[in-house]
Amino acid sequence: MKSASGKLGILIVGNGAVATTFMTGVLMARKGLTKPIGSMTQYDKVRVGHGAERRYLHYGDIISLASLDDLVFGCWDVYPQNAYQAAVYAQVLRREDIDPVREELEQIVPMKAAFDKNYAKRLDGDHVKRLASASLSGAGEQIPSRWEMVELLREDIQRFKAENGCDRVVVLWAASTEIYVPVDEHVHSSLAALEVAMKADDRKHIAPSMCYAYAALVEGCPFVMGAPNTTVDIPAIWELAEKNRMPIAGKDFKTGQTLVKSGFAPIIGTRCLGLDGWFSTNILGNRDGLVLDEPENFRTKEVSKLSTLETILKADEQPDLYSDYYHKVRINYYPPRNDNKESWDNIDIRGWMGYPMQIKINFLCRDSILAAPVCLDLCLLIDAAARDGRYGIQRFLSFFLKSPMHDYRRGEEAVNNLYQQHTILKNAIREMGGYEADEEMD
Ligand SMILES: NC(=O)c1ccc[n+]([C@@H]2O[C@H](COP(=O)([O-])OP(=O)(O)OC[C@H]3O[C@@H](n4cnc5c(N)ncnc54)[C@H](O)[C@@H]3O)[C@@H](O)[C@H]2O)c1
Repeated sequence: MKSASGKLGILIVGNGAVATTFMTGVLMARKGLTKPIGSMTQYDKVRVGHGAERRYLHYGDIISLASLDDLVFGCWDVYPQNAYQAAVYAQVLRREDIDPVREELEQIVPMKAAFDKNYAKRLDGDHVKRLASASLSGAGEQIPSRWEMVELLREDIQRFKAENGCDRVVVLWAASTEIYVPVDEHVHSSLAALEVAMKADDRKHIAPSMCYAYAALVEGCPFVMGAPNTTVDIPAIWELAEKNRMPIAGKDFKTGQTLVKSGFAPIIGTRCLGLDGWFSTNILGNRDGLVLDEPENFRTKEVSKLSTLETILKADEQPDLYSDYYHKVRINYYPPRNDNKESWDNIDIRGWMGYPMQIKINFLCRDSILAAPVCLDLCLLIDAAARDGRYGIQRFLSFFLKSPMHDYRRGEEAVNNLYQQHTILKNAIREMGGYEADEEMD
């Protein structure tokens, strides 16, 4: 593996609650003013070796990881406010936890977004990319085509890298959830078809997020999709990632309710209890909640959140236990709670002789506080994967994602069980560090 020397640029799509909480936490931590709690790369330990030889080491002692001191942040957003203003607006962190790094945050000024309002109708920012055009009525501005968006984003990445003296750059999507874009057999199945559609400005099938992913990969940057968008879930982008030998990961940060679900469902499965239904609902009031209040945007999230259970509690393997359970997920926009999401899970289970029981889980969490360490880990680990020569879908990052990517063309299934995901993660760290993967996951 190449060493993590030099600066690692982290270019974040979106300068909202998650992005600013992530950046502020890193800047505060490297001043020694806070602790990066919840981050696997900063805290988790992996056993290497066996018997008397065994040792438990931090990830950074096994593989070369970028240090927090070497991270440089940049971002894009449809609103022009700098990261300090955006962090204050998000109201996730107290001023006393933002102000010590105010100057550094103020220097993070978003670049204009590659944006299409049809993909997030609730957003009204106008800090978006335009092209100068000479029309009959005189000079004006026009919305760039999808291909032009790609070109403008590529220029942004090149400029950011040069201006900040970055050795490497990772692009992380922490922007709003787009409307649901189903995988299209024709447009999304090959890189050639995707490029034709981008050049023809096919706005129905090419979401702005695909332009970011495309630009990142062509510029030699790993790409992580933190929202449930289809973006990197399509063969065309897999082909590009393989062609350019860049790693990709997605999708949808696993933070609150789904983290609990992927950790709790294995209890039911391991004890061979039956499941009749799992109802998950939650309230949240941040801008993410506002965007998800739009049915077409919620649909994208719903598909992502629903996928968790069926790969853990499998009907075909245990028809008596899991053939007919009812799984429902609701998200309700409720402004008073802002980022402090509250979730309720009602689980109807069945025991000996079919007798019913219930489990209730009430999680009072903080969305962005849970998401920030996941952002850090995804960025550091996908950078490590790139330096190790890994490319294409990075299944070992499934641990951090609600709806993990997998190559369905090869019959792969998503792994959603939190403990299996942890095993895959630890094995990848071992392998990248030159040790043998030594825990089976089956
Ligand atoms: N916080 C969590 O626990 C969590 C978990 C999983 C996924 N997510 C996802 O992470 C994303 C960010 O969440 P958040 O709470 O920070 O939301 P947010 O609304 O605070 O921030 C998102 C930002 O993205 C910007 N944006 C939208 N489209 C853009 C584009 N095309 N280009 C550039 N910027 C764009 C918006 O203007 C906004 O400032 C959401 O998609 C959310 O669903 C969050």
